[in-house]
Amino acid sequence: PTIFVPCDAAALAVGADKVAAAITAELSARGLNATIVRNGSRGLHWLEPLIEVRTDHGRIAYGPVRPADVPGLFDAGFLSGGDHPLRHGRTKDMPFLKGQTRLTFARCGVTDPLSLEDYRHYQGLKGLEKAVTMPPADIVREVTDSGLRGRGGAGFPTGIKWNTVLGAPGAQKYIVCNADEGDSGTFADRMIMEGDPFVLIEGMAIAGIATGATKGYIYTRSEYPHAVAIMRRAIEIARRAGILGPSVLGSAHAFDMEVRVGAGAYVCGEETSLLNSLEGKRGVVRAKPPLPALEGLFGCPTVVNNVMSLASVPVILDRGAAFYRDFGVGRSHGTIPIQLAGNIKHGGLYETAFGLTLGELIHDIGGGTASGRPVKAVQVGGPLGAYFPPALFDTVFDYEAFAARGGLIGHAGIVVFDDTADMLKQARFAMEFCAVESCGKCTPCRIGAVRGTEVLDKIAKGESPEANIALLEDLCNTMKLGSLCALGGFAPYPVESALTHFPDDFDKNPFLQA
Ligand code: NAI
Ligand code: SF4
Repeated sequence: PTIFVPCDAAALAVGADKVAAAITAELSARGLNATIVRNGSRGLHWLEPLIEVRTDHGRIAYGPVRPADVPGLFDAGFLSGGDHPLRHGRTKDMPFLKGQTRLTFARCGVTDPLSLEDYRHYQGLKGLEKAVTMPPADIVREVTDSGLRGRGGAGFPTGIKWNTVLGAPGAQKYIVCNADEGDSGTFADRMIMEGDPFVLIEGMAIAGIATGATKGYIYTRSEYPHAVAIMRRAIEIARRAGILGPSVLGSAHAFDMEVRVGAGAYVCGEETSLLNSLEGKRGVVRAKPPLPALEGLFGCPTVVNNVMSLASVPVILDRGAAFYRDFGVGRSHGTIPIQLAGNIKHGGLYETAFGLTLGELIHDIGGGTASGRPVKAVQVGGPLGAYFPPALFDTVFDYEAFAARGGLIGHAGIVVFDDTADMLKQARFAMEFCAVESCGKCTPCRIGAVRGTEVLDKIAKGESPEANIALLEDLCNTMKLGSLCALGGFAPYPVESALTHFPDDFDKNPFLQA
């Protein structure tokens, strides 16, 4: 039999290694033989460590498994899928997985992340095999036609960005993968790097061939040590197999890559400050133009794409632009890996076509709050995303629908809060976060965020609330219009949405409260 125990950081954090050790010990104590595969996570975080056993009837899931549960699982005959209170039946029939459309995450949690054999067995490398036979402009057209938009948050069409780099003159060009996943409640980039690293390598190689770039960098965070280790080993394996190197899959195209680790600044997820950091400089934002597509890393034309954008490319090349484009709504094509986090019963990774409503995601899929109390607010798109009240739960998951309501889907992280949350405190957190993380290059953000925090403190003390709220609104406008990058420019979103949708939380007048 084969037993799968995830090696994903989320599973490790709740004891997956100890569970694997307990299984090994139990096997030897009972004189049994089984193979233990360390797979990625299936993304059902409330059930981690979620272990699986391969049986004649498919893979059977058990979770959350603690080391102390292991002898009981053996007693129940779990090696052949036996019944047990932690048994969830066939993994692929579990409602949370069954409802998903997994294109980018098709292999995550299914395969051994470092087995190229597994990767090939589950349709891996098919996109790159096609790409090496195609003229670069045709690859770019395929990605453009698929409707894929930047999954880092801004939603800029990936094919158009690639076309700018393809057309830019330059002897050296680069592919930079932005893996500096810093948004609150997000983990999709990490999960793919830990659970299916070859898909990112394949996507980056395709991007290189499409644009004429021969060198790639994955820029990620020091807080992701497991992702860094797995990516580095996967790159070594890909190099030895001829997927990376002077002749990609035996073609005339060269492409190689490496992983670089940042020192831990939120603003280094902004593409120009990321490039500065990659060049060994301080992570300060650069003014645009010039666009990185024309003058990026070391002044050369550079594609800067998020992990999710690049990891979506192999399936587009393999199955074709039309296949991908058919998923979704409006101008949001394809699937989006949504990350459910915060105070939610069923948190985890849910990949689906654009088009579900926020309410369906929180209640039907996420099961409401973990605390069992009513949902008060959800923040979508990271610490600089707007807070939406349940009254806006009919908002469809689509770039334009969120923008129309003053929000953003960003990197598709959803953080849920129950009715005990104080939205004034949350608004203050946004300003304080901006003040701490500001790179200091422009005044509205560097000074505005500090003043914003002070004004919110005055409102919290009930000091001239009307005048201070007017001042706060004025300050938010200045930051939105005058900041150089999204950090200062977006910090007002959580503040303004908290003010608009939860005005009672700002009414701290001690006389009124008494
Ligand atoms: P942006 O709208 O300025 O640019 C989007 C991308 O398109 C950039 O890569 C830009 O260089 C490129 N671009 C624009 N015009 C182009 C052209 N004509 N040719 C080629 N490329 C072109 O947005 P920005 O500042 O890069 O990103 C802001 C977003 O980042 C926000 O929406 C936010 O959701 C997201 N974000 C994501 C985080 C994460 O952890 N993933 C963290 C913080 C923010
Ligand atoms: Fe730097 Fe803030 Fe200005 Fe962005 S908005 S450039 S982080 S000071």
